[in-house]
Amino acid sequence: MKPSELDAIYRPLAKHLHHDHMACLGIAPTMRLAESYNECKFAREKAWRDELYRTRFDELLEENGGCSAAPVTMHDGWALDTSMSLPHLDRVLEDSDRIFAERAGRQQSEKGAYRSYFQNVFSLEDAETYPSFLDFATSSDIVSVVGHYLRTIPALSTTLPPGIRLVESNAAFDAEPDRPKDSQLYHIDYYSLPNLYVLVVMEDTTLEHGPWTFLPRGTSQKVRERLGYWGPGLGYRISDEAVYATVDRSEVIPFTYPRGTVLFIESSGCLHYGSRNSIKPRFQLMLGYTGACRTDFSEVFMSNDAYTAPESSPLLRRMVADKYLPAPGRPDSVDLERLPQVQAELGAVAQQVGVELGAAHNGPPAASKPAGVS
Ligand SMILES: [Fe+2]
Repeated sequence: MKPSELDAIYRPLAKHLHHDHMACLGIAPTMRLAESYNECKFAREKAWRDELYRTRFDELLEENGGCSAAPVTMHDGWALDTSMSLPHLDRVLEDSDRIFAERAGRQQSEKGAYRSYFQNVFSLEDAETYPSFLDFATSSDIVSVVGHYLRTIPALSTTLPPGIRLVESNAAFDAEPDRPKDSQLYHIDYYSLPNLYVLVVMEDTTLEHGPWTFLPRGTSQKVRERLGYWGPGLGYRISDEAVYATVDRSEVIPFTYPRGTVLFIESSGCLHYGSRNSIKPRFQLMLGYTGACRTDFSEVFMSNDAYTAPESSPLLRRMVADKYLPAPGRPDSVDLERLPQVQAELGAVAQQVGVELGAAHNGPPAASKPAGVS
């Protein structure tokens, strides 16, 4: 069976289970189901990426241009690079200035719309027009840090979050800037385990800009266990009060740094929020990386926006840019050994939640993205 045929059957169920931040079954059970499903689709890619990481990562980094300096090491789910000298960073900053000058300050959505205070002004086409972003995102200096954390050859995310975003956060677009809501509230991302962000502030950023704000991984996990967060019956967003009943506010780290500072952060491990009352507009680059097998169903029902690199590019660059680069010799088939188990599990869930499954000859996923990127 082809992966596209499997997706056609389970698309209605995937949408249903994903809706409202996995509210139907709860976040943790939905993540487990989604991971099994994605392992059935991408088992060979996962094995290929894991094996190359274990056996040839240093060689691939060298072939990709090598690292310009000793990469930072992530501790407790995060690391900062304040060198301002990462390869292609200067080009990224220049191109971002140009793009924001052209597109910032114009609200894309209605004021009361979901997350109107936060908007992405970067498109898939921009990755072609402005190659600096892909050069930066696939550079050995960045991929070395991300790969060692994920312990695989990483890929830019293709659905939630988009792999490359340039975002403007602006309180002027917020109907109620004084009331934190949605991604302005603490949460831990469920997209993949781990999901890693590389964030770059495009302007000197202070508390007035509504900075990306987080708790280190160890502290975050303490809160998660105490609250039973991701368990059934609890929502995706949690209040400051609930968090600070467990940990001290002094542990909070706002990403308030000068233009060009880079934050590596595991958003699937660290509680975080951002864009809270951005009185001064905040401009940020957000790169999202995953492994081959996500822990959500977004690839089943959203367009899969992979980037591309020419065949003549180093293998590492091609693998990071294109999540769907096939493993060598891969047949266009799901993993037939895992398939019966996955079908049995999802069939039982579909019956339990009353969703009718699709037919294998349905068309491709719709191109629209649902709200819910954070
Ligand atoms: Fe998030």
